[in-house]
Amino acid sequence: MNIRKSLLVSMFAAASLVVTAPAALAATFKMAVGDAAGGTQWELGTSFAKSFSEKTGGKHKVDLFPNGQLGDEQDTVNNASMGLLDFSILAINNITPFSPTVGVLTMPYVIRSAEEAKKLTTGAVGKELTANTVRDAGVRIIGWAYSGFRVLTNSKKPVQTLNDLKGLVIRVPKNEIMIASYQAWGVNPTPMSWAETFTALQQRVVDGQDNPYITISAMKFNEVQKYITNIRYIFSLEPLIVSEQVFKAQKPDVQKAILEAGEAATEHSYKYLLETEDRIKKELVAKGMQIVEPADGEKEWIEKATTVVWPKFYKAIGGKDKLDRVQKELGR
Ligand code: MLT
Repeated sequence: MNIRKSLLVSMFAAASLVVTAPAALAATFKMAVGDAAGGTQWELGTSFAKSFSEKTGGKHKVDLFPNGQLGDEQDTVNNASMGLLDFSILAINNITPFSPTVGVLTMPYVIRSAEEAKKLTTGAVGKELTANTVRDAGVRIIGWAYSGFRVLTNSKKPVQTLNDLKGLVIRVPKNEIMIASYQAWGVNPTPMSWAETFTALQQRVVDGQDNPYITISAMKFNEVQKYITNIRYIFSLEPLIVSEQVFKAQKPDVQKAILEAGEAATEHSYKYLLETEDRIKKELVAKGMQIVEPADGEKEWIEKATTVVWPKFYKAIGGKDKLDRVQKELGR
């Protein structure tokens, strides 16, 4: 190796140390939060930070950066995977592109209640998906925010039927299952990153989007959206992930504290949802939003999504038997 080349190699090695060492050994960790402060992601993150700091006798601390300050949700998965970011809280649908088997939890109309969401995420299915995300994406799921069902909002008209949906431009995350759901419902949605969504709704680049009530409120979407359709196609799960590189670099007692704080924060998140969602729903109405129920008990929405969308994604989620297993675990 000539001198110039070896100099470059040592400079590169020194630079990588500068980038990775502080993340792995820091006393203060950084946590990206996709949503604004005040929603279910924030509750999970602040609860985790408090519990983690207590469990390490104050030796470690976590600073939260809400509102996508540390990057768009999908970018934070890449950064954590490379060890450049410690923790991130993001919607499950923004992990699926990196670890497709996680998609089993975003298949439309599979999870039908908060209780089912908790049962799946804290049981055998959750454990398997955690192992898969470590393998596929270099990040470990250590906690879950339970955010409620994603309801449809728009600025133009009340939507009760699939026919009403026609003509509306709907933003969806860059997630194949969600894109396919809207296509099955007869519209071509606009895939867009979370960070761009508020501005796109405000500037009327898109007419609508879907997210849970608590997220709609935390993100102040009521200022740019009028109508809500109370669909229940996806129960929004928002995992707390830790960079596997950062996790592995910790001493066993710190790893234990991370896992235990994640479990405690998950319990807190479940209670928070049950105690908060109804109040937020009423507040959104008081602020001028109008909620309508999908016609005919959501029958046509359910039928299209389960007959057209499910078979398209059997392969991506690891086979039809994965979905069958989830259904079985839920007693169906
Ligand atoms: C999305 O719509 O991209 C996500 O649900 C955003 C979120 O994390 O709340």
